[in-house]
Amino acid sequence: SALRTASLLLLGRTAVRVQAVLGDPAARLFGLDQGEDPYPVFESVRAKGVLVPSRMGLHLTASHELCSRLLRDPAFGVVPAGALSPVDTTAHVGGRRLMNPVEDSFLVLNPPDHTRLRRLVAPWFTPRGLRRQADMIERVVEEHLDQVAARPTFDLVRDFAARVPVRVITDLLGVPGADQAAFARWGSVLVNALDGVRDMAEMRALHTGLREFEEFLDGLIAHRRRTPGDDVVSALAAEPELTREDLIATTELLLVAGFETTVNLIGNAVLAVLGHPEVRERLLDSPDHAEAVVEETLRFDPPVQYTVRAPSEAVEVAGTRLPRGTPVMLMLAAANRDPAVFADPHRFAPGRPDGREHLAFSSGIHYCLGAGLARMEAAAALRGLFRRFPDLRAAGRVHRRPSRVIRGAARLPVSTGLRR
Ligand code: HEM
Repeated sequence: SALRTASLLLLGRTAVRVQAVLGDPAARLFGLDQGEDPYPVFESVRAKGVLVPSRMGLHLTASHELCSRLLRDPAFGVVPAGALSPVDTTAHVGGRRLMNPVEDSFLVLNPPDHTRLRRLVAPWFTPRGLRRQADMIERVVEEHLDQVAARPTFDLVRDFAARVPVRVITDLLGVPGADQAAFARWGSVLVNALDGVRDMAEMRALHTGLREFEEFLDGLIAHRRRTPGDDVVSALAAEPELTREDLIATTELLLVAGFETTVNLIGNAVLAVLGHPEVRERLLDSPDHAEAVVEETLRFDPPVQYTVRAPSEAVEVAGTRLPRGTPVMLMLAAANRDPAVFADPHRFAPGRPDGREHLAFSSGIHYCLGAGLARMEAAAALRGLFRRFPDLRAAGRVHRRPSRVIRGAARLPVSTGLRR
């Protein structure tokens, strides 16, 4: 019931606060204040050892070696996001359970289902598949720069970074232009649920978002069965053995995985450039430096901060026996600053020789399918932005997203520096 859910949510939050005060490492992470710098907390986990137990029922690791090993170990599987939540976040309509990208998609499936579903969409994300998107991406970036160029100040996230990825992903999925704003809204609601649901208002927003999104997709799929286009949904709708549930979950995954992550990569990259004048100079001299800046942003300040794996049988890891199903939090953002792999890890240094060892896109069989697309989008956005506004400046306080899993700015006011 609603009352039971509300009290469980409250109990969960109180437990996190109490344990955080007692110094529990996972509770410190779950309880980070909005805008608080998480990197010192990561270092405190690293200082405690390779595998650190938490009273919240999981273990944590900041070790690059252990993160990459467990991500590639077939004895460790994925855990649905809801598994760490104190309440059941699944929603039902008329007795039927609504699909949920973080509970039902191949992101949270193990082989053989993972293999079967990932293979269906993979061709769209190969270098050859992506080459077809390059012109569209450049066009979308320029269109959105045109829209902000007339104003002396704008919000880099809301007016630019948040707009490009949703256009790219809706184009790929074959969503008609008029529905793109709704798509952006659903994307935000669903991605917020990655952190678990904090109160009843968020729970209701999630359920409404899921229901509307599912209704919309049913309509889109029916439409694409009648009039197929050159897009992902048309291709999936033509697969005879694919169930409605798999089709919806896969489409939802592509939206959720490809949207806010890329928004925050663009935002974090711009923040890093604004904070490092020498990087800006280099970028203005050679726009192709954008690729190195994007790569170093992925290492230094990754949009996805951690993921979770659990062993399918009892195992021993770093001298600790983990019973079957024990969640291990793999702190990707902390692994990316592991001094065992990265020289001077807290320095933002695009082009560093060890730069591509980062785990921002994970590793193993769940390695981000959209990594190439995300790199292309973010580099195009940076190149376009600083070509158009070489004197771009911060023009107000940065508001951080409330999320812990996804790191980035929610608002980033900038001035174009153009004289008028
Ligand atoms: C998986 C990060 C952009 C599609 C993942 C995972 C990470 C990640 C860390 C793996 C999670 C895990 O191992 O538990 C990012 C970042 C992005 C980004 C940081 C942008 C900066 C995209 C884009 C798309 C996409 C643009 C597609 C349009 C996917 C898919 C998966 C995935 C489909 C699931 C792969 C699987 O389970 O086999 N992403 N992603 N991502 N990502 Fe991305």
